[in-house]
Amino acid sequence: MSNARQICVEIIQQILNDKVFFSEAKSELKAEENADISFINMLVLTTLRRLIFIKKALRQFVKKSPPKNLRFVDCALYVAAAELLFLETPDYAVINSYVELIKKQQDKYAANFANGVLRNLAREKDQIMSRDTSTFFSTEFTKILTGYTREQIRQIEEYSAQEAPLDLSFKSLAQAEHWAPKLDGTLLPNGSIRLENNGKISALPGYKEGAWWIQDFAASLPVLALGKVEGLRVLDLCAAPGGKTAQLISRGALTTALDISKSRLQILSENLQRLNLNAQEIICANALEYLKDYKEPLFDIILLDAPCSASGTLRRHPELVHIKNTKDIKQAAKLQRQLLDMAGKALKEGGILLYTVCSIAKAEGEEQIETFLEQNADYRLLPIKINDIDFSGTKSLSVLLNPQGCIRTLPYYSGPQGGMDSFFVAKLQKVKNS
Ligand SMILES: C[S@@+](CC[C@H](N)C(=O)[O-])C[C@H]1O[C@@H](n2cnc3c(N)ncnc32)[C@H](O)[C@@H]1O
Repeated sequence: MSNARQICVEIIQQILNDKVFFSEAKSELKAEENADISFINMLVLTTLRRLIFIKKALRQFVKKSPPKNLRFVDCALYVAAAELLFLETPDYAVINSYVELIKKQQDKYAANFANGVLRNLAREKDQIMSRDTSTFFSTEFTKILTGYTREQIRQIEEYSAQEAPLDLSFKSLAQAEHWAPKLDGTLLPNGSIRLENNGKISALPGYKEGAWWIQDFAASLPVLALGKVEGLRVLDLCAAPGGKTAQLISRGALTTALDISKSRLQILSENLQRLNLNAQEIICANALEYLKDYKEPLFDIILLDAPCSASGTLRRHPELVHIKNTKDIKQAAKLQRQLLDMAGKALKEGGILLYTVCSIAKAEGEEQIETFLEQNADYRLLPIKINDIDFSGTKSLSVLLNPQGCIRTLPYYSGPQGGMDSFFVAKLQKVKNS
């Protein structure tokens, strides 16, 4: 276990110092090979979700702010505090274990200091835990939520800190209905199946048969918003790892999948192979370069699932709160705008440009499209039809459509029990060639 704890501390140190995703830190530290992988996942995610609260609690006993480049001892205190305050491990086991680790990884002075802090924390646990423990967002991160009301931000924060259920997408509604009882899952209004338990993915019924792929309920909506795509030529501009590509192909679209990342396209190819689905072409290229001199043949639809802050996926990636800020949003928005400006070069007149981002920031969603339309008379906004995304016949997903007919999902929206990622989707029609 102490090895697992050391890995957790090193992962937290790498995430916070280098501003990388948990998955990147994990792969470098080869944690996957560790037998304690589920403990590591649980402890790292708990630390990340509770970090703002933990930092505040520690400030009571540590007067000096930690250095900008966090040392082993700083991160060990965060992880140990997560275990002391939020997990059931006995206090003495937590304290002894982290103090020994710090002695080994740093020095005995740091270990003595941590020993004092952790003992104080354990002593004051009841008083600390009587405070509001729901704080998840840093002040810095809250700045990306400009445009939301205070109450909306409170609810986003509350729901974003919860664990996400597992949603599966199927090649057709009939397939979803067929597999739902075998998977013991709930059929959602969009045709996804939601599972409560997150067991081993490859052991679930239908995995080997290539019946489904993992895709959050909200991530499935953009392709559904296109309506019928059978026989249409579609360019999926930022396609990997291919969740939306798989949806397009299974709905009969003649799909060209393009992405800048070779390794992510490799995953796309493996996914399509398992699902027994074929793309027309798979292209590894920078979309901006590919589109620059694009001539013929023009596409009926361009799907732009643009690179973004990913701030809509906080339930899966709580590290985002600690590694993303308004600067990242601005940078992402700039690239999104370049891609939007270029996409039209490969789109026929009357064709659809479907823009989507898994971001909660309006600067990457609503505001991006509003500005783009103001400056582009070549496009008009088509309202997304409720019947294209909601097959239940109850229109229960109407709450996800904003007054302009774009999709904005938020983690706390009613609809499927258990929430959803935050996505923005706009359906644009090219009305003339410039
Ligand atoms: C949001 S992800 C796409 C998810 C994918 N559509 C799906 O449903 O599985 C964004 C993708 O954009 C790719 N990307 C980033 N910049 C790009 C560029 N300039 N040209 C093409 N692809 C790019 C990234 O490699 C990443 O795979």
